[in-house]
Amino acid sequence: MEQDKKYTLPLLPYDYKALAPYMSEEQIRIHHDKHHLSYVKGANLILEKLENARKRGEELDMGAILKKLSFNVGGNSLHSLFWQNMAPANNGGGGEPTNMLMQKINEEFQSFNRFKKEFTESTMSIEGSGWSALSYDKELDRLLITHIQIHNKNIYPTFPILMVLDFWEHAYYIDYKSEKAKFIEAFWNIVNWEEVNRRFEKARSL
Ligand SMILES: [Fe+2]
Repeated sequence: MEQDKKYTLPLLPYDYKALAPYMSEEQIRIHHDKHHLSYVKGANLILEKLENARKRGEELDMGAILKKLSFNVGGNSLHSLFWQNMAPANNGGGGEPTNMLMQKINEEFQSFNRFKKEFTESTMSIEGSGWSALSYDKELDRLLITHIQIHNKNIYPTFPILMVLDFWEHAYYIDYKSEKAKFIEAFWNIVNWEEVNRRFEKARSL
């Protein structure tokens, strides 16, 4: 397989220590360097397996292999969005969105506080491993919250994702142990609203 047709682990857009105290260096190192990397490697391995089998004309258990591919590609895509939609609290993170996004949040959810409440409750209701996501449906011009099971289920297939929160245990356990609600509370201090707004404007213009 050509080098440029493989997934690669994206670099963090900030230092490992930059999101502390809301997300510690140790938490981010394990999450990014171990967990995220494992999805990148997993996806590449499966693509390689598919390619080799095609070259050799071998049979494959397509159901099983595509399930794994979707899981790993989904894991890589969501983590890549996740790192980018956070920023240090003293350098662009937290606060409230501005511009068109704030207007749309108010229109859809009545208020920013109501949006935060719904997003928090969506996250808390995840059973097992999953993500909360804010998506945009251009056809209806509406924002939609969803929670994604594992990395790839219960997702709106074609709607761009504006913001995600990783709610797998590996995302918070070092810092928060079983205090999940504190992790969500902390997240609001490091949301990169500029990036979320940039995604929103891009989604509207597609
Ligand atoms: Fe994760």
